[in-house]
Parts: sequence; C-alpha cells; structure tokens
Amino acid sequence: MLSDALLLELRSLLPHCVSTDAATLLAASLDASDVQGACSAVVRVASEEDVVRLLRWAEERRVAIVPRGAATSATGAARPMPGSVALDLRGLNRILDLDARDMVAVVEPGVITATLQRAAEAEGLLYPPDPASAAECTLGGNVATCAGGLRAVKYGVTRDYVLGLRCVLPGGRILECGGRNLKDVTGYDLTRLLTGSEGTLAVFTRIVLKLVPLPPAHGTLLCSFADEDGAFTAADAILAAGLWPRALESMDEPAARLAAAGAGLELLPETRSQLLVELDGEATSVREAMERLRLLLGKTCLDCRDVSSGEAFAAVWQGRRGISRAARALAPAKHSEDIGVPRGKLALVVRQLKELGRAHGIPMLIYGHAGDANLHCNFLHDPGGEGADRRLDACVRGAWELVLSHGGTLTGEHGVGLRKRDELPRILGAERMRLMHAIKQAFDPGNIMNPGKVLRENQA
Ligand code: LAC
Ligand code: ZN
Repeated sequence: MLSDALLLELRSLLPHCVSTDAATLLAASLDASDVQGACSAVVRVASEEDVVRLLRWAEERRVAIVPRGAATSATGAARPMPGSVALDLRGLNRILDLDARDMVAVVEPGVITATLQRAAEAEGLLYPPDPASAAECTLGGNVATCAGGLRAVKYGVTRDYVLGLRCVLPGGRILECGGRNLKDVTGYDLTRLLTGSEGTLAVFTRIVLKLVPLPPAHGTLLCSFADEDGAFTAADAILAAGLWPRALESMDEPAARLAAAGAGLELLPETRSQLLVELDGEATSVREAMERLRLLLGKTCLDCRDVSSGEAFAAVWQGRRGISRAARALAPAKHSEDIGVPRGKLALVVRQLKELGRAHGIPMLIYGHAGDANLHCNFLHDPGGEGADRRLDACVRGAWELVLSHGGTLTGEHGVGLRKRDELPRILGAERMRLMHAIKQAFDPGNIMNPGKVLRENQA
C-alpha cells in the first residue's frame, strides 16, 4: 500500500490526474491475462510534463510505476502489483504528424492502432502491423510488447516499423533515440532495445512509425479442409509456389467453429481445419494470384470461399479477431500459450500438442499466424474436479518442453510479462540474463519501472 502521506504528495504534484476510487483501481488492476493485480492509485496523464513529474517523484520515493494503454496484454505485463501506481497513458492520444513524403507518422502512445491505420489509409499509406485487437489496443502498448498480428508474414512486426522514440526515464530524464531516417546505424540500437521492453525501462511519449505505400487491391480466401493438417499443408504449398500473402491464418476445428459463429457463417460439418489467406498488391496481380491460389488449393480443400469484399470480408475478419474472446466465453478458465516454432515444424508440433492435450484430458483449441509459425494454443481448462489444476499445469509444462525441444519459443508475440518470466534463465542462459539485468540497472537503477515483469527482481 502507498502511505497516505505519499498519496497526498502525488495529488499535489499532479492535481486532476490521480484517482483512488475503488472502481478505477479495480479497472486498472486487470489486463487480458487471467489473474487480477492491484494498485494504490491510477495516474491519468495529459502531457509529457506529467510523466516527467511522476517519474521524478517515483524514483525519489521508490514507488513502482506500471505503464498501461488499453491493457490488452495477455501476459500480465500491464497488470499492476500492490502498492504501485498505474500510469494510464490513454490521454496522450494525438497523431502529431502524418507525413506522406517522409512516409512516417509521429504519434503519442495512447493512439488506438486502428485509428492510425485509418488515418494512414486516408493518405494512401499503410501502417502494416495489425494485432487482432487493433480496434482497442494502443500504439504505445504495441511498441512496449513488439506486437505481431495478422499481417506479419509479409510485413513483419511492430519493431520493423518503429523508427524513433522519445521516452521519459526514471528520475524524469528525457531520452530520444532514432528519428525519421529510414536507415540509421549511429550507435547501439536503443530504439530496438526499447521496443518489446514491456514497460520495464522507460515510458514512451512520442513514437515515430514507418509507413509504406497502400496496396490498391487485396483478395481474401477462406478455405476449409477435411483433415487437421490441411491448413498447414496448404500454407506450405502457397509459400512454396512463390505467393506471398499478407495474412496466412490457420484455425483448427474448434477455433473455426468459434470464428464462424462470430462471423455469422455456416461451417461445413466435415471441416477439420481452415486457412484464411489474404493477398495484396496491384489489382491485376491480385486477380492473377487469387486464380493461382484457387487452382493450388482447389485440389485439397473442401471449400474455397472468396471473402474479398463487402459483408463477408468484414464478418470473416471479425470472426477471426474474436476467437480469443469467444474461447474465453466458452471456457472462462482457459489458459492460452503463444508458441512459435521454425516454420517447417509447425504441423508436427500442432499434432504433438493435440496428443498432449488428449493425454491430459484437456481439450485444445489452436489457431493463429500459420504464416509466421506463431500459434495461440488454448487449453480449454475446466477447473472443476479432482486434480484439474495439476493436470493443466502438467499439460502446459509439457507443451513448453515440446516447443523448446523443437527449437521453438514460448512467446512469439505476446511477450514475457509475469507468465514466462521464471522460464527465462534456463532458456536464455546466464550470459544473456547477466546482460539483461545490467541493461535494466542502467535504465532503472531504482527498479521502479514495472518491477518484476520480464526479470525477477532478485536475479541480478
Ligand atoms: C490473436 C491474438 C490473441 O491473434 O494474438 O487472436
Ligand atoms: Zn495473435
């Protein structure tokens, strides 16, 4: 708990920004992971100067600060800890510049991702990173977690678009790194280091993002297969044929069922997997590529539906983006993993994960970014019954070992947060841990920035 004296100081330092009422504290104690946190105050800043004041005070008083945007984090990264101050950055939500000639946008961290996507499109430009939660999540959160999303197979992830950052460091010092240059190798790349640092090093107040030309056309196919591997075999065939879709999303049967329900579409009863493929480019090349896709997939799929436009397009993507939430409604205690494996191993690993689920009596729902070999493996856990939690734990640990044994990663895009933190030392090894702790110490010697996330506090 923060003492009354400290709360009083905070209120006088940042009048009109501080809330301590129960409803605000409760709302700020959650993120999209399944555990609740707690905080002593929420500070909703309105300017960079507010952030500077807060971080100067917090370092002096050794108060933990947890930066938050829309809190769609699935790992606990945005979840506060008792006695901390949740720093709500949603009020810093201006697009400061959108320059079609430099092809950059300069934004504050609280801008919603979809808002920038729309603003860029109005200028004939594309901001490619597209997390499933784009309509809610913030760009500050995207940079803090290096969000991936639906178009990474062709365009890469958030870090590939972050050109520059202006940040406030503990103590209230300002750090600027990178800028508007598309190429810049002056010194260590602190911009990349900060991207994905999960609020443990600095608070972003300005972000310079790269934009690319908006492709004039796109085409989208939803293909259903009668076997579990069908979607993966098709994804391999598409890439092997030299086609380069911007989205290549797989769904197993339970995921396809949820997506179809969310889209208001029928699912063929024989469906065991689905692949959602989206191409973009010049209109003629998209038309040709769609034709090639239909020929390529026509032999193996049950059904190949053109959902490129109109209601079908919006509905299919709404269904796909809503899978995580729909799975939570189906199994409120579900546990979700965010695995990545070398691309060639994808179908094999999914088969083995499903076997593992069967062995532990836990139904699995697996979907995600097949093009990147980054899938969301949902354990549809039923917490009732003898030993259910133990079985879930054993199954999750088994899944981790399986993925690691194939040279994979425990998190492709959601990050470490609290969930994966304790696995880091054995995965990264002593030398990388030593460097990571030294970096943390250099940025945040008082350990006030989102303490305990990514790194355990006493591992230095
Ligand atoms: C998705 C989120 C969970 O791809 O990353 O649906
Ligand atoms: Zn995802």
